[in-house]
Amino acid sequence: MNQKRILVTGGTGYIGSHTVVELQQSGFEVSIIDNLSNSNIAVVDQIEKISGIRPNFSKLDLLNKKGLFDYFENKETFDCVIHFAAFKAVGESVEKPLLYYKNNLMGLLNLLQAMLANKVNNLVFSSSCTVYGQPEKLPVTEASPLLPANSPYGNTKRIAEEIIRDTTNANSDLHSISLRYFNPVGAHESAMIGELPNGIPNNLMPFITQTAIGKREILNVFGNDYHTADGTAIRDYIHVVDLAKAHIVALNRLLNNEIKSNFEIFNIGTGRGYSVLEVINAFEKSTGININWKYSPRRAGDIEQIWADSSISNQILNWKANKSLEEMIISAWEWEKSLSK
Ligand code: NAD
Ligand code: UD1
Repeated sequence: MNQKRILVTGGTGYIGSHTVVELQQSGFEVSIIDNLSNSNIAVVDQIEKISGIRPNFSKLDLLNKKGLFDYFENKETFDCVIHFAAFKAVGESVEKPLLYYKNNLMGLLNLLQAMLANKVNNLVFSSSCTVYGQPEKLPVTEASPLLPANSPYGNTKRIAEEIIRDTTNANSDLHSISLRYFNPVGAHESAMIGELPNGIPNNLMPFITQTAIGKREILNVFGNDYHTADGTAIRDYIHVVDLAKAHIVALNRLLNNEIKSNFEIFNIGTGRGYSVLEVINAFEKSTGININWKYSPRRAGDIEQIWADSSISNQILNWKANKSLEEMIISAWEWEKSLSK
């Protein structure tokens, strides 16, 4: 049987690199394009060390439309594209909205045009639970209403889904699955790939591990007056390897023509929420290291609580998150320690 060829945009990034490994281990041939704006070329070597297979890599910016068209034309065709490449820092997107709209939306437009021109008909898209805002009813299902995004970053995800929906409506050969990720954390068990936050981390888990290792003095817990059991905000944390595996399942659904409409959307979470304090306590218990932390005011733009109803992914994709919070924490900690070696 011919090996299926998959193009991964943003494949040297955090979620992309874990997905490339899972793709290779599932027998796919992987090509990566990334402009390395938020990742390092050394990730390609690390991927090869884990899987024993070197992915094809091209340094290319999705905003370079001519370069992208040349790339597609010079390659044998791809069976599917998994599109991770985007900017993702919420705070930065508030300060530089045009940078975010340009990169995340122009990148998608160029990619869709190159796909259509070259008859590449399958796309898996990285979306986010941020499109739900603060849902009235929890857990959130795929049918929950979308609320106005509270950041330009979040808005790019919502608009991107609309662009993909309209494009699949207009081109019946084009099929796409959008995965709405909840909060990806953790790292590959080899500790050879993981999240590389740029500067001071915004996200909770890298801030915890950096505090534990001594790179940060103190962790601020944003808000202790939420309407939750301990007053801190609740999220659905998902192990990045479980998330990576969801892409393989979505990809196979596209390749096997199992989709029921041209554009399908799935929540990718565990279905279980943890508060900030629960995550800190779990970290301390799993590693034996005490975290220096204090309460701080709520962070602007934060929602109080969200977790996924993943039953549609469980039933229709036959995918389920398997890894526990402890496994997320231990792998994030092993990764943090590996960075200091
Ligand atoms: P990341 O920054 O680690 O990876 C994104 C990669 O895309 C980077 O390697 C970057 O260099 C590349 N890139 C960015 N713009 C590009 C361009 N114009 N051309 C080529 N390459 C470009 O981010 P991640 O955490 O792996 O996120 C991957 C995707 O998942 C993003 O679309 C993100 O918005 C989405 N997402 C992430 C999270 C999260 O918590 N990490 C949550 C929900 C959704
Ligand atoms: C954020 C983004 C979301 C994006 C995701 C991945 C916002 C409002 N949402 O999600 O759109 O998809 O990152 O990049 O920014 N916390 C602390 N102290 C810290 C850091 C975080 O208490 O130093 C708390 C937060 O207030 C939140 C929880 O930990 O309650 C998780 O935060 P974070 O990891 O930043 O993820 P989200 O805010 O859920």
